[in-house]
Amino acid sequence: MTPQAMKALLQERGVHITAFLSHCITNPAVPERLKAAMNYSLMAGGKRLRPVLCLTCASLCGLDMARVIPFAAALEMIHTYSLIHDDLPAMDNDDLRRGKPSCHKAFDEATAILAGDALLTDAFAFMTSLPLPAEALLCAVATVAQAAGSGGMVGGQVLDMSYEGRSDVDLEALRTMHSLKTGALLRAACVSGARLASAPAERIAAIEAYGAALGVAFQIADDILDITADTATLGKPAGSDVEQGKTTYPSLVGLERSRELACAHADAAEQALAGMQGQEADFLRALARYVVTRAA
Ligand code: IPE
Ligand code: IPE
Ligand code: MG
Ligand code: MG
Ligand code: MG
Repeated sequence: MTPQAMKALLQERGVHITAFLSHCITNPAVPERLKAAMNYSLMAGGKRLRPVLCLTCASLCGLDMARVIPFAAALEMIHTYSLIHDDLPAMDNDDLRRGKPSCHKAFDEATAILAGDALLTDAFAFMTSLPLPAEALLCAVATVAQAAGSGGMVGGQVLDMSYEGRSDVDLEALRTMHSLKTGALLRAACVSGARLASAPAERIAAIEAYGAALGVAFQIADDILDITADTATLGKPAGSDVEQGKTTYPSLVGLERSRELACAHADAAEQALAGMQGQEADFLRALARYVVTRAA
């Protein structure tokens, strides 16, 4: 499957998430400016990769995708919060996101911080609203909480910041950082979908291995694109990692070795699903290839 064909399939599934997100803030108590900032970042575009992974893994395990949409959309809210905060001057200091001024540029820093806080917190309200068996739901929510928090994405972001301007970070430390800052939420998107479907432990383990490998492949590709793609294509400032002195795969091992390592992780993701048949397994395998061949 070509990257273009996979992109179209991803968009086809992502449409349901965007439709949900477009009217998700209905509480009249939400101040207008906060609501505007949340909607601005949610509706600015984005590949919707995490929610689509959640929908697809749920479907792979026998649960109708339509029943998972609010949960999957909540993952996109958490991801969007992470991007809003990632772009702040105190972090990556990037003024462009998803082809538009970053949230703190379109609004102001305090509003961007609070919009991120609100997206993260509201996400849990959406997740817990699903009419599914309580035990499955509780396990899925716990999976996401652990992945997004201090031992997952936030911890990874702290490592990312602490590795700026350093030349003594080794590949093992970098892989750990990638698996936390980006891999954790991608892995949780996959695993939570399987947990919502009350999948057996063996299947959850395979899906977790898929998500973990996919997550690292995805962030290596992101590091590569920061160097090889242009700002217009990326919708975020190309060359930002170099400007910020980030430790990345290309900065550590060069572009060519980074490409090899990204492909090796995509291979590992595919292999984790070995023996799984059908449309959803095929979709996930093609997606693993896509994350390392994408243009943005
Ligand atoms: C960007 O994620 C941040 C990383 C974890 C590398 P995406 O590349 O999925 O961003 P959107 O959602 O498509 O904008
Ligand atoms: C961000 O990694 C990971 C997050 C948890 C948001 P990057 O800082 O590389 O993401 P981009 O390149 O700004 O999208
Ligand atoms: Mg960052
Ligand atoms: Mg960044
Ligand atoms: Mg990046």
